[in-house]
Amino acid sequence: MGSLAVGEIRRAQAAMDAASRADYERDGFAVVRNLVPPEELPKLRQVYDGLFENKAGWERGDFFDMLDTGEKGGQMTLPQLAWPSKHAPWLAETQMRRRATAIAEEVLGPRAELVWEFAIRKPPKVGAPTPWHQDEASFTVGTPYRVALSCWVALQDTDEVTGCMLYVPGSHRGPLLPHQTVGNDARAHALGAIDPDVTQAVAVPLRAGDAVLHHSRTLHGAGANRSEEPRRAITLEFAVPDKSALIRRDFAWNQGKFTYRDERELSAMPLPQRIKRRVKQTLIKLGW
Ligand code: NI
Repeated sequence: MGSLAVGEIRRAQAAMDAASRADYERDGFAVVRNLVPPEELPKLRQVYDGLFENKAGWERGDFFDMLDTGEKGGQMTLPQLAWPSKHAPWLAETQMRRRATAIAEEVLGPRAELVWEFAIRKPPKVGAPTPWHQDEASFTVGTPYRVALSCWVALQDTDEVTGCMLYVPGSHRGPLLPHQTVGNDARAHALGAIDPDVTQAVAVPLRAGDAVLHHSRTLHGAGANRSEEPRRAITLEFAVPDKSALIRRDFAWNQGKFTYRDERELSAMPLPQRIKRRVKQTLIKLGW
């Protein structure tokens, strides 16, 4: 539990009780009310907006448009920032982070770690829908786990007008569906499931500071933002890394994928680090 105080652990566990662990097991998602304490929200929004306004991390590929296949400039419709806490370290000190971590440890066990963190800020009026997908489809070679738990946090009230999360209940117990990049373009970042059955989908509106947890196989998407305000969300993804679970071969839809974001990341990376990464990937593929 790290530095988490006993009172905070109790609060996090109470939050998870309210959301019902049974909901998560049955549906593959569950709502957690008031994950973020109200007093933390204004600063969270301020820090978050600052990162997006400054396009933090653009040069090294941390900031990108999930849908843009040409990075042509102009207004981004699905801007994402990878690892916001690397650009604003305060985010790692928040109650939001501590409580999400405590819940992940409760669900996945005490060895759960934060393995991925990102923010999607859908601009007013033009914010695009997030394609239907399963997070597992984006696990690439070298990913040391097969199951993850995502904690999607709303930083303002979020409904079907602003673009709330949409889920297909029980889909985490079904197969991993075939996916493709948007427009079947190897340079686009976003993946979408091919012809998913979403007839049973449900919308999950949230209040500011609420969160929704989902399993990495749960089929989900999010609506467009048709409101006058940005739709701010931050996702903390947890897993239990284990070398025996290492993914050694990419799914077909990830083979040959090389996005504009990847290109910027690679060109910003010092040569020794680039070589080290290439060697590591080769060794993983060879089964070492
Ligand atoms: Ni997702």
